[in-house]
Amino acid sequence: MKIKACIFDLDGVIVDTAKFHFKAWKQLADELQIPFDEHDNEQLKGVSRTTSLEIILQKGSKKFSDDEKLLMAKKKNASYLEYCSTINEQDILPGIKLFLDELKENNFLIGLGSASKNALLILDKLNLTRYFDAIVDGNKITEAKPNPQVFLKAAEELGVLPSEAVVIEDAEAGVEAAVRGGFFSIGIGDAKILGKANFVFSSTAPLGLEVLMKF
Ligand code: BG6
Ligand code: MG
Repeated sequence: MKIKACIFDLDGVIVDTAKFHFKAWKQLADELQIPFDEHDNEQLKGVSRTTSLEIILQKGSKKFSDDEKLLMAKKKNASYLEYCSTINEQDILPGIKLFLDELKENNFLIGLGSASKNALLILDKLNLTRYFDAIVDGNKITEAKPNPQVFLKAAEELGVLPSEAVVIEDAEAGVEAAVRGGFFSIGIGDAKILGKANFVFSSTAPLGLEVLMKF
């Protein structure tokens, strides 16, 4: 088998923080009287904080200054972090901990490729930081998914080629980034949205070494 590493997205793959991002954006959109629902939210998954805000503001008609936008992004992040304040190991998505243990025991390299600037804080809360051989988060990248930069950087830090790594993603933009970067990919969620991935599972529960054997 040629696979040497797994690169995980964070939000929606390791922990269900995707719902907190949605709640925090929804709160802001409601205040601005901009219609925003779960369907619109799909576009925001995997995308940076500033780009997410732009996508929401485009749905409204009002224009805002850069300072106003900065304040909105800060406010969203404050409510997001408040939702995250109670996160702990019990919030790790099904099968993830076991899969990380299996990967470690079998000498696979483990990377994180996340657009979030809060990634380290969340990993610490989940007590998972020690598993990762490379962590590339929103503070280390200039190009957002679907640009493959975040995964290419993670692969570089791990010392593997994209063709030796599997990316695990819940976002359409994330799967697209994996494909563009030349990685294998596993989508977690709706196959209609994540169809470009090599395999799609509706949840993280089936993840395991036997899935990697299929590549
Ligand atoms: C991604 C999420 O992981 O991180 C996006 O899927 C989020 O929804 C992005 O906007 C940036 O996160 P943060 O924590 O830096 O605002
Ligand atoms: Mg995600």
